[in-house]
Amino acid sequence: MSHFSLAVAPLSALQVRRKHPIARDIVRFELTHPQGQDLPDWSAGAHIRLSTPQGHIRSYSLCGPVDARDHWAIAVKREANGRGGSASMADEVHEGDELPLHGGDNLFALDPQATEHILIAGGIGLTPLYAMAQTLALTPAAKFHLYVCSRDAEGTAFLSELQQAPWRDHVTIHHDAGDTSQALDLWPLLETPSAAHVYCCGPQGLMDSVRDMSGHWPTHHIHFESFGASQEGWSENQAFEVVLRHSGQRITVPADRSLLECLRQAGVRVASSCESGTCGSCKTGLLAGAVEHRDMVLLADEQATHIMPCVSRSVGGATLELDL
Ligand code: FES
Repeated sequence: MSHFSLAVAPLSALQVRRKHPIARDIVRFELTHPQGQDLPDWSAGAHIRLSTPQGHIRSYSLCGPVDARDHWAIAVKREANGRGGSASMADEVHEGDELPLHGGDNLFALDPQATEHILIAGGIGLTPLYAMAQTLALTPAAKFHLYVCSRDAEGTAFLSELQQAPWRDHVTIHHDAGDTSQALDLWPLLETPSAAHVYCCGPQGLMDSVRDMSGHWPTHHIHFESFGASQEGWSENQAFEVVLRHSGQRITVPADRSLLECLRQAGVRVASSCESGTCGSCKTGLLAGAVEHRDMVLLADEQATHIMPCVSRSVGGATLELDL
């Protein structure tokens, strides 16, 4: 599977060719090159980072079709109680609009050595796994099965595509009616380690279940995509200030913006990829200040000296000093 990086194919915006609802609160967007050129090659599991009309930067998995070059597609679930990014996409983006593009990457690629694949999707986490299933369906002799967990049929993205796909025998769709006691029983899938690789994307509870039940599998066979660490235990966002040791710049981070976004806006370059506290690219030195660490990357002994600015914030509005 080819690596996906927009660094080799610079592109600063995508144009919305089509926007349409595909399930309850889920909108699909078709995105094209603003000048009508072919888009860069990508592989299943890739994501792109877009600015919403409100200026949030969000990561979205490409969901296929995997062989199209004239457009990419993403599906966005409007989270009424989210941080505003999905609502801005669902409510404020119109066909013809251009959305600033901040790059793309694939941190969740299919393992080219794997001969068998178990794909476990929860809710809107289906998007990268739908692309994987399409890819595997085109791969001779690939063995795979896609498990789609959702509340009900109305809230399931790509339902008719999955039911009508030539590879529909490789799909199990499970509805739990929002009742965790009716969740898909994953144990029969994971009880006996096999040659299969397991890919999971979905709500934290589903990923935690897969993690818990796969502890006896080789770790390199278990793959997760997470565009958000669990928000459990996070405090309410507050505005805070950061001081940059080397330039002396003082930057205010409003409650509805990430530290990374504000650094970028101030012209400070910090590497980034997932923007959800999972990849490790934005690791930044911390010189002073109390941090609420919200990432899933830093080890306990790194937390006193580093911060992941894509998700982490100061405690109680305290000023932070960064090694920048
Ligand atoms: S950009 Fe991935 S952890 Fe911050």
